[in-house]
Amino acid sequence: EADMPCIRQSSVTFANLHKAADIITKHIAPVAFPTETVYGLGASALSSTAVRQIFAAKNRPSDNPLIVHISSVSQLQRVLHTKVPEIYEPLVQKFWPGPLTIILPLPDPIRNEDGTETPAVSPACTPGQSTFGVRMPSHPVARALIAITDTPIAAPSANASSRPSPTTAMHVFTDMAGRIPLILDGGPCDVGLESTVIDGTVSPPAVLRPGGVSIEDIRKYGGPLWTDVVTGKSEAGRDEKVRTPGMKYRHYSPKAKVVVFVGQGDGSGGQVATYLRGLPEDLKIGVLPSRSFKIASWDDEMKKKISIVKELGKSGTEISRNLFAHLRDLDDAGVDLIIAEGVGEEDEGAAIMNRLRKAATELLENGRRIVKN
Ligand code: TXA
Ligand code: MG
Repeated sequence: EADMPCIRQSSVTFANLHKAADIITKHIAPVAFPTETVYGLGASALSSTAVRQIFAAKNRPSDNPLIVHISSVSQLQRVLHTKVPEIYEPLVQKFWPGPLTIILPLPDPIRNEDGTETPAVSPACTPGQSTFGVRMPSHPVARALIAITDTPIAAPSANASSRPSPTTAMHVFTDMAGRIPLILDGGPCDVGLESTVIDGTVSPPAVLRPGGVSIEDIRKYGGPLWTDVVTGKSEAGRDEKVRTPGMKYRHYSPKAKVVVFVGQGDGSGGQVATYLRGLPEDLKIGVLPSRSFKIASWDDEMKKKISIVKELGKSGTEISRNLFAHLRDLDDAGVDLIIAEGVGEEDEGAAIMNRLRKAATELLENGRRIVKN
């Protein structure tokens, strides 16, 4: 079981989809599948045995709750036995299927005829919580898999715990070979960062994790109850309940050290230049520029120190799509240090900066220097 042969399918066929569905419904092992955000590692949300296999494969801390994926609202209603709370209606209308996760109160257990009770969702999905997260993905392979299994599927991102989330089947293969039997390869993910997690069970409602749907759009389309939405604090104390995993655990970490520069003005590289000059000669350095680093105009002394440059892109959509893949690519290239250019926190910028801050070992932000760990 430690060395399960892993099949990375080169294409999603009818037969492979059914094979994946079979592995899931028989609780044999978790299966990796593409979603529009990142690849997920799925198992039946109704089976504690199956859900525990996800935690084991990822080496995930057992108190970190999983998102339940559904393929239709009627499937969700079968779990809830009631309607989706009204506060979510405009957002679900607008953004499902898509990169939005909503937090719901856990439904009462189902009473069986013999007097025993079955939980509506496996408690292994929702460790210590009175709520659970639900998302309807838009990726056709994810939707088909959930529909064929006719089962709500618990799925975290399919990376090994603390690694950047996978946006290609090869990323999953790198982390999970030998641990899972099957990866459905649907090509690179379109969004590239995980879903936005919102909690309307608290007042005022909160964004627990910025993601594929911007906070501006939550405010714009959510109706009057969402105009004052608060964004969750980014760090939590050790004994606090885990509201989102990055709060407590190191996350999105490549092996290399990551230094993030924010607010570099004209991009002439002033702060970066000083930083580079202070580094030892033999360090292998990769740079991830986004909007304003103008490496072509940096002086030769700076350029000589840089081994690899991978452009993140200019638009929020591009940067989101490239970020995790580029962090992994630089790791594969064996760099010791990654210098990444941060962006403003509007629109997609909030999710991008959330992930960059969590990946960072050091931040240089408008003259301030923050060293982590
Ligand atoms: O885009 C996504 O959401 C991807 C794809 C696969 O759907 N999934 C994903 O799952 O990112 P994961 O496990 O890597 O992140 C789930 C997030 C965590 O921040 C977790 O703490 C939060 O959702 N979450 C899940 N259930 C929760 C709950 N009941 N209360 C608060 N946060 C919850
Ligand atoms: Mg994750």
